[in-house]
Amino acid sequence: MNVDVFDAIHRRRAVRRYLPRPVEREDIYRILDAANWAPSAMNLQQWEFLVVTGEKIREMGESFHAVVRAYAESRASPAAGEEFLRFALTYGGAPVVIVVLTYAADAPNMQKANLESASAAMENLLLAATALGLGTCWMTGPLQDERSLRTILGVPDDKEIVAVTPLGYPDEAPPARPRHDPDLERKVRWVE
Ligand SMILES: Cc1cc2nc3c(=O)[nH]c(=O)nc-3n(C[C@H](O)[C@H](O)[C@H](O)COP(=O)(O)O)c2cc1C
Repeated sequence: MNVDVFDAIHRRRAVRRYLPRPVEREDIYRILDAANWAPSAMNLQQWEFLVVTGEKIREMGESFHAVVRAYAESRASPAAGEEFLRFALTYGGAPVVIVVLTYAADAPNMQKANLESASAAMENLLLAATALGLGTCWMTGPLQDERSLRTILGVPDDKEIVAVTPLGYPDEAPPARPRHDPDLERKVRWVE
């Protein structure tokens, strides 16, 4: 598949249901290589990637499931909760989950820079996966139980967990979520 960057941007969706089909290790490397080519503050390349499979996904799912269950119980709409609960427990059945880490800031002004650099890597990762026909879903919800995640994944205190994404072949084709201002009338101000 040959996809230009604008195609990948427009085709990417948050995918929450995956086929059990495994993802080739070579494709995972290509995706992480794209992430590793992101720009970074002071060229520190302040990111690391955990490639999670098997039993560890199940443990992560149990943690996220508890987060979503607590949220669903506090809401009026249990039906919407059911769907999310299923997604949470297995990360949508994805065979791989990628966790993006950055360095804990050693100065207050570096926190933003570290987070932004790792977020640039995360977006590259999502777009590269799209270009290879793979689905992803940028997620920070699981960080609500960060303590468990750190234990499950063995993340030390000098690293921050930035985001998590399942990675796999989509078992759904979600429609595009409408943009609030597709014609960019309110989101853009030209300053002269
Ligand atoms: C910072 C960030 C955090 C997100 N966290 C979650 C999450 O915890 N769970 C989830 O299902 N989706 C999460 N999403 C995905 C968004 O819900 C999704 O991107 C949005 O609804 C737009 O849909 P699209 O990605 O298909 O365009 C997150 C996205 C971003 C950028």
